[in-house]
Parts: sequence; structure tokens; C-alpha cells
Amino acid sequence: MFKERIKTHHSAMGDGKKHLKGPGNVYELLSVSKDDTENAVIYIHVPFCTKICTFCNMRRSLQAPTKEYADLIVEEIREYSKLEYVKNTVFDAVYFGGGTPTTLSSADLTKILRTLKAELTFTEEAEFTVETTVTQLQEEKWRTLIEEGVNRFSLGVQTFNEEGRKLMGRIGSGENAYELLKALKQMSVTVSMDLIYNYKGQSMEDLYEDLDKIIALDLDGFSMYSLIDMKETKISEAQGQDNDEKMFFAISEHMEKAGYRFLELTKMVKGDSYRYIMNRHAGADTLPLGAGAGGSMRGVAMMNPINLDEYKDSILNFKKRMGMEFLPSYKDIVCFKGDIQTIRLPRNTELYKDKEAYMEMLHKLTENEMVCKKNNEFYLTQKGVYWGNTISRELYNLI
Ligand SMILES: C[S@@+](CC[C@H](N)C(=O)[O-])C[C@H]1O[C@@H](n2cnc3c(N)ncnc32)[C@H](O)[C@@H]1O
Ligand code: SF4
Repeated sequence: MFKERIKTHHSAMGDGKKHLKGPGNVYELLSVSKDDTENAVIYIHVPFCTKICTFCNMRRSLQAPTKEYADLIVEEIREYSKLEYVKNTVFDAVYFGGGTPTTLSSADLTKILRTLKAELTFTEEAEFTVETTVTQLQEEKWRTLIEEGVNRFSLGVQTFNEEGRKLMGRIGSGENAYELLKALKQMSVTVSMDLIYNYKGQSMEDLYEDLDKIIALDLDGFSMYSLIDMKETKISEAQGQDNDEKMFFAISEHMEKAGYRFLELTKMVKGDSYRYIMNRHAGADTLPLGAGAGGSMRGVAMMNPINLDEYKDSILNFKKRMGMEFLPSYKDIVCFKGDIQTIRLPRNTELYKDKEAYMEMLHKLTENEMVCKKNNEFYLTQKGVYWGNTISRELYNLI
């Protein structure tokens, strides 16, 4: 039915222009009370890495965190906490992403976590995730993080295979990664890892070995990414085979048998509810903290400068911070796309301009076994998940 498989999630933000209202002052726009009871989430960006991996084009740089970085985040939390809208907000999840958040010291991470809890309001079951690489998470650090309330770890293992690790420029051995995950699994926290497949030289046996390790470790979930040749990376060196489709179905079938199910197009879980991402896909407000962090609160999109001096200035001059205001219709688009990311067809069918074209597409998707109906709602099948981002684009073209 489709020829080109889109591998990445196309963020709603990029094509939100027609829902754009214009620039607005963040301080003023968030100095009003909140008139709904929807939960929100927090994203904290730590843009530092000790080594740059061959496949990566994230917003990060090869350097240690500056001494003042954690203090700037603390200051940013305090500034936001004074705003009426943020005061009225209840947060359900915090995600430390990067870069490598654990390049920050235990003392720095503790400081940030304590400030969050002291200044903001959280749900009882709030999720606190720290994303990191294996070599940047020593025992002393994960124990501190757990003591300070971190209850979910997301480890970028990519592969346990030594050749694969070398190719991707990963530090540390697969065995180290395995032992760390095993130790974390003994604590009462949720443990997830990132897996990259379809890299050059990877055989089906190599892939099954990675999957069997995930099963043996009884991980709560894993993200699965077919290697993408991102611009400005060295990954073309690591590509050269295209077993994308074969490997995708090998993973989904093998892991479904082991009790995992799709939560997102690129995530399978057993016990991981991943509240941060589920809230985001449902259009929740996201408070962005740290250099290079992006999010939106009350329909105001905010993007912090990645440049550390500019980021600092933006905190010193907090009242002057500017964002982009979106019309309420923009949230419908986020939820539309979020539904597909979370394995279902968009529930808001009112958005389709041409209902007939939608019905025709729905018929084709069903006929091609990409979609199935359960309790009057349409869900993606395994094949639908494989084509998920392509389906998202096709449906988006109909609204
Ligand atoms: C925010 S990134 C980096 C996380 C963390 N810093 C690490 O190194 O583990 C999250 C995940 O996206 C995936 N990813 C990044 N670039 C990719 C690429 N070019 N192709 C496929 N997956 C990629 C990797 O699995 C990575 O762990
Ligand atoms: S994959 Fe992770 S550790 Fe590697 S360069 Fe990217 S952000 Fe840094």
C-alpha cells in the first residue's frame, strides 16, 4: 500500500503554522490562573556528553557540564514557580533528557530534584525519569537518584554486541551494560533501554541475542529504533544493509511472545506506563527547563537557547522571555498525531476535511491489515505500527 516508510515521528510543531497566533511574553501569559485541571509534565535538558556517538545528531556538545548549570536550572524552576499558571499546575512526570543528564554530579541532580519538589506540585504517582548511557551511571549515582525520588531509568544501551557498540561509538562493554541493568532491576524502579537495530554487519542472530538479553533481564520496556542516517553524523559509515522490515517484525513477534506489547510506534513494554510520553501525546502542557529544552504551557511554545550564555541571560532576564502563542486548534493536531504514536487511529474524526477520503483510507488500511477494530475504536496492527509514521502523514494530509 505504501512505498516509503517514514522512520521518525514528525513533530506536530513543524507544521503548526496555520495554528500560530504570534509571539508572546511568557511571563505575562503564564501570570494568569489555570482554568482546567489537566496534568502537565516537565522536560529537563542536559546537553553534555563525554563522547559523541557516530549516529547522533541530538542537541548536545562534547563537554562537561559547567559548574553553574544546575544552579541555573534551580533558578529557572524558582522563576517559573512564581507564575500563577505554574502554581496552579499539577505535574505528573519529569524527564531528564539529553545529552547525558548524569554528566551532572549527584549533588547537582539532588539539588534539582529537591527544588522541583519544594517549588512545584506533583501527583502522588508522578514519574521521575533519568535518561543516560551506561558508563555515565555509577552505583553511587543511581542510589542517590533513587533516594531522591527517581523511579524510572531509561538507558541508551543500543546493543550489547561489542562490534555494534564499536561501530556506534558507544563507550563500555555490553557486559557492563547488562550488569548495570540487572542491578537496577533489583530496585523498585522502572527500567527501560534503547535498542538500535539494522546497523551494518548485524545478523539476525545478533539481533535475537540482544532481544533475549532484554527478556532475561525482564526489562519493563525498550525503545526500538531502526538505524537512521541522520545528517551531520558519521553513521553512513555504520550503515550498509537494509533489513529494516525483516528485523522490525522479528523484534515485534519475538517480544510479543515474551509478553511485551507496543505502547508507542517505537516502544514495547511489559510494565512500563511511561507517563511522561503518554501525557505528551495526549497534549499535556510541558514545562521546558535547561539549555536547549523545548515545550509549551497554556498554548505558548517555548524554546530555551542551547547556547549557555544566552540561556543564562534568559534566566537573568526571565520577565522578557518570549514564546510563540498557538491557537487552541493546535492542541487538536498534537492529539491527532499523539493518537497514532500511541497505536490508534485519531479519535477526533471531526478534523477530516474530506470525510469520504478518510473512509476510503480507513477501508484501505483495514483491507491491508494495518488497522483493526476493537470496542468501536481503530488500533494499529503490527504491520500498522511498522508503517505508523507513514500512516500519520497520509492521515494528516486529509485534515
Ligand atoms: C535522546 S537520544 C540519546 C540518549 C542517551 N544520551 C544515550 O546516549 O543513550 C535517545 C535515543 O534515540 C535513538 N537514536 C538517536 N539517534 C538515532 C539514529 N540516528 N538512528 C536510530 N536511533 C537513534 C537512540 O537509541 C538513543 O538512545
Ligand atoms: S547518543 Fe547520547 S551519549 Fe551519544 S552523543 Fe548522542 S546524546 Fe550523547
